[in-house]
Amino acid sequence: MKKVGVAGIGAIGTSVCNALIDGITGYELHAISDVQDKPEWNVPNLNFQDMAQKCDLIIECLPPDIVPKLCTPVLQQGKELMIISSCALLMYPDILKTHELSTSRIIVPSGALIGLDGVNALKNIGIKKAKIVSTKPPMGFSTAPYVDENDIDLSSIKEKTMLFSGNALEASKGFPANVNVAATLSLAGIGAMKTQVEIWADPQTGFNSHEIQVESEFSQITAKVQNSPDPANPKTSVLAAQSIIATLRGFTNEFVVL
Ligand SMILES: NC(=O)c1ccc[n+]([C@@H]2O[C@H](COP(=O)([O-])OP(=O)(O)OC[C@H]3O[C@@H](n4cnc5c(N)ncnc54)[C@H](O)[C@@H]3O)[C@@H](O)[C@H]2O)c1
Repeated sequence: MKKVGVAGIGAIGTSVCNALIDGITGYELHAISDVQDKPEWNVPNLNFQDMAQKCDLIIECLPPDIVPKLCTPVLQQGKELMIISSCALLMYPDILKTHELSTSRIIVPSGALIGLDGVNALKNIGIKKAKIVSTKPPMGFSTAPYVDENDIDLSSIKEKTMLFSGNALEASKGFPANVNVAATLSLAGIGAMKTQVEIWADPQTGFNSHEIQVESEFSQITAKVQNSPDPANPKTSVLAAQSIIATLRGFTNEFVVL
């Protein structure tokens, strides 16, 4: 049984803890970490250092700016780390530098994105282009630094409007809570500088949707997902937590379709 620590018990962390309590073969919830009082499922609420020491696998479900504080002790202790806030890996490059010096394994689940199976498969033979177009209701971008810095009045957007066009690194810095999908695509594919990102605000949509377009010599991938906002946090999609749970199940299931 691997001892699992879940850091950040918000929309995603709560679903992951509930799934672990319901039962995932080979894994048991051993600790949580959150700054707020949370239902403890009979496990302790530990600081990051203690969680890194006492658990075998730590699942990160935190705000992106907190992620480096978790990664340092986990990587230094050589523990397995699952990261859902993938944009933190682009924004804080020291995480991957520390990882290179460690014996840890970092796992990035697909989160709210689909189509990564094809991207992973094509990477071996070369990807020429990778692009992601993300569309959400305007208020889904309410806390984005890019919106603040550019004085964008989200409430005045009455028709579908492109807010941003650039690469995955710039997108992660401007929209850290919104474009983990772009970071994940870039990490799976051709890197943050070459992965193109468009971000659209659409007052007519009720979905958070993401379309990837990936081109290689032998295959053209177009994959689109429309996620309903998670009732517990409209910036998150239910699919993100489910991808963590499916990844855990995939590690131990005897029959796996990838
Ligand atoms: N990869 C993807 O496709 C994808 C999809 C959706 C969300 N995300 C990312 O997943 C992360 C979690 O999302 P969520 O919707 O569960 O967020 P959330 O805001 O619902 O939960 C975050 C939790 O972290 C806790 N927290 C904050 N500071 C802390 C600290 N210093 N120590 C311990 N706990 C702390 C908060 O109290 C809260 O409970 C976010 O970064 C989000 O952007 C990724």
